Amino acid sequence: MRAPDKPDRNLALEMIRVTEAAAIAAARWAGRGDKMAADGAAVDAMRFVLSGVAMDGIVVIGEGEKDEAPMLYNGEHLGDGRAPQVDVAVDPIDGTTLTATGRKGAVSVIALSERGTMFNPGPCVYMRKVAVGPRGRGAVDINASPTDNLRELSKRLGKPVQELGVVVLDRPRHADLIAEVREAGARVLLISDGDVTGAIATAWPNSGADILFGIGGTPEGVIAAAALQGLGGEIQGVLYPRDDSERDRALAMGYDLDRVLSTDDLVTGDNCYFSATAVTDGDFLKGVRFTEFGATTQSLVVRSRSGTVRTIETFHRHNKLQEFTTAGF
Ligand code: FBP
Repeated sequence: MRAPDKPDRNLALEMIRVTEAAAIAAARWAGRGDKMAADGAAVDAMRFVLSGVAMDGIVVIGEGEKDEAPMLYNGEHLGDGRAPQVDVAVDPIDGTTLTATGRKGAVSVIALSERGTMFNPGPCVYMRKVAVGPRGRGAVDINASPTDNLRELSKRLGKPVQELGVVVLDRPRHADLIAEVREAGARVLLISDGDVTGAIATAWPNSGADILFGIGGTPEGVIAAAALQGLGGEIQGVLYPRDDSERDRALAMGYDLDRVLSTDDLVTGDNCYFSATAVTDGDFLKGVRFTEFGATTQSLVVRSRSGTVRTIETFHRHNKLQEFTTAGF
């Protein structure tokens, strides 16, 4: 019998192997001050494991155009070519600097969805974002001021604005945003990198984070949307060109720079998959540990159709590790 074109098995469970491999390869470089090497190792490992997965995948969110990214480039076919047909978003390391400096919060992530359901941001590297967890869904509007959003979220969550935790990337471009959030009375939780995890935190029970605001990567926005589809949260994004030339290119390609991209616009929601494995320690996952037997990893795996959210700890034996460790290890 012919395999169905649409994914009907939990591909996310197969994606754990992919992010585990990338995280372990990246962790070999943690704290060694070389983010390119860390990223390269994660890319190699991710691609190696993906090549054996039974799927017909196309990279929609990858490492960039083919000219600058020899592997996991946008448009690359992944998997062994068999059904199901899927769109793929990869971020072998979200937090390359965190990894290189041995800081907390780096993860390896991947998201899959049915073919044609993932937003392609084209030349736009950044987007404005707002993300909330399941209880905040429907209470926020990216075109409203942060103050108004905090007020609405406070009503929805039934807690004072002063008790809201607001995740913001620590960047000079966010100075006004941070000032406004503080002025409104909420608590700003600055992160130095990694806004996929920042968005997930808003949907994670007792994380202390209620909402994420600010400008971050578009790839990370699409990947966060896949995670939030399964976690029941919401993200809204508006493309944010870095300069006139990026704006002109985006407009020439037909992008509407005022359009509010909903969670569903970023990744259509009824059948998408997300896997993240911690490279370094994070708020809800422990980073890779190397032991005398091999390594241990912790991953978060989410499927939107079933709404299942799994955290999985895996023990990897030395002989298996050798399959996907590269770059001299
Ligand atoms: P990298 O790991 O690719 O460096 O991305 C880390 C990250 O912090 C993302 O999580 C975030 O969306 C983006 O960079 C923000 O971009 P910038 O560092 O240019 O402000």
